[in-house]
Amino acid sequence: MTGGTGAIGGHAVPALVGAGHTVSALARTPRKAATLAAQGATPVEVSLFDRDALAAAFAGHDAVVNLATAIPPMSRFMSAKASRENERVRKEGSRAVAGAALDAGVGRVIQESVTMLYRDQADLWADEDTPVDPFPMARSNLAAEANARGFTEQGGAGVVLRFGWFYGPGAEHSEQLFAQARHHVGLVLGRPGGYVSSIHLADAASAVVAALTVPAGTFNVVDDEPLTKREYAAALARAAGTAMWVRLPGRAAELFGDRLTSLTRSLRVSNARFRTATGWAPRYPSAREGWLATARTLDHRTAA
Ligand SMILES: NC(=O)c1ccc[n+]([C@@H]2O[C@H](COP(=O)([O-])OP(=O)(O)OC[C@H]3O[C@@H](n4cnc5c(N)ncnc54)[C@H](OP(=O)(O)O)[C@@H]3O)[C@@H](O)[C@H]2O)c1
Repeated sequence: MTGGTGAIGGHAVPALVGAGHTVSALARTPRKAATLAAQGATPVEVSLFDRDALAAAFAGHDAVVNLATAIPPMSRFMSAKASRENERVRKEGSRAVAGAALDAGVGRVIQESVTMLYRDQADLWADEDTPVDPFPMARSNLAAEANARGFTEQGGAGVVLRFGWFYGPGAEHSEQLFAQARHHVGLVLGRPGGYVSSIHLADAASAVVAALTVPAGTFNVVDDEPLTKREYAAALARAAGTAMWVRLPGRAAELFGDRLTSLTRSLRVSNARFRTATGWAPRYPSAREGWLATARTLDHRTAA
């Protein structure tokens, strides 16, 4: 696994180990290597961009899960400079990973992507056949998806998982949103009646486990019930145990154009294809249940 030390990876590594799999994961620092080892994985030091070194690390494995991303934190989300490293990780990293998997004879590549690629669907449901929108920030995701499809065309099983807006303990942005909710501030990006499709990190992790046996293809990994942005803010406020007094910035966020378009559009995304193909089901059917569980974990951590 690459990205095993990130937000999704922090849940996916223990989920895979718990399901009985033997996991090796890329580590970039001794501290992260120690965390992986404590989770039951074997840390491996290798560059994401070195195809030959990756192939050597992949040898003997049945599948590679590429969860490496470098999305800028919320404070630098709008910065084009900060996005460049993410683009490199998505484009060049995913190409090296897919190529190395072919070289090493690995049968399966699971590539992380996002549902924010779909065009705004207003109140209509989006599935995997809904047209995607190649807006600038989406291009590196589309390139990563293309590398996974190329892996399938060359005889492997390339699986693309398009994750919804993830949240949960370990995702820095959701811990920030939760802290803001405690101060009665809710973030509503775009039309309050527009939809947001989300996924709790624990459910993203169980989807990675399920993806080990799914046929090659592209799958949405979202919960069962997308909420409107107004409902999402209310679910967060309820979990934080507060009333929402201020909701920012609503439709004004649309003024930021392309740099925020992944979050301002209305996306009501269906998980039917993945559920049918794998039998996977999210533990948290919507952000209402998922945020309550997240609040319990965050509060427990603060108290400890
Ligand atoms: N997808 C969403 O829904 C979403 C939405 C908004 C905000 N966010 C936020 O954006 C932030 C970043 O999220 P994320 O999913 O990109 O990252 P993340 O949770 O930080 O995970 C990224 C993973 O990729 C690895 N990685 C990054 N650059 C690498 C490189 N050059 N070579 C090898 N591995 C590399 C990281 O390794 P290291 O651990 O060594 O760094 C880490 O394991 C988080 O705070 C998240 O909460 C995510």
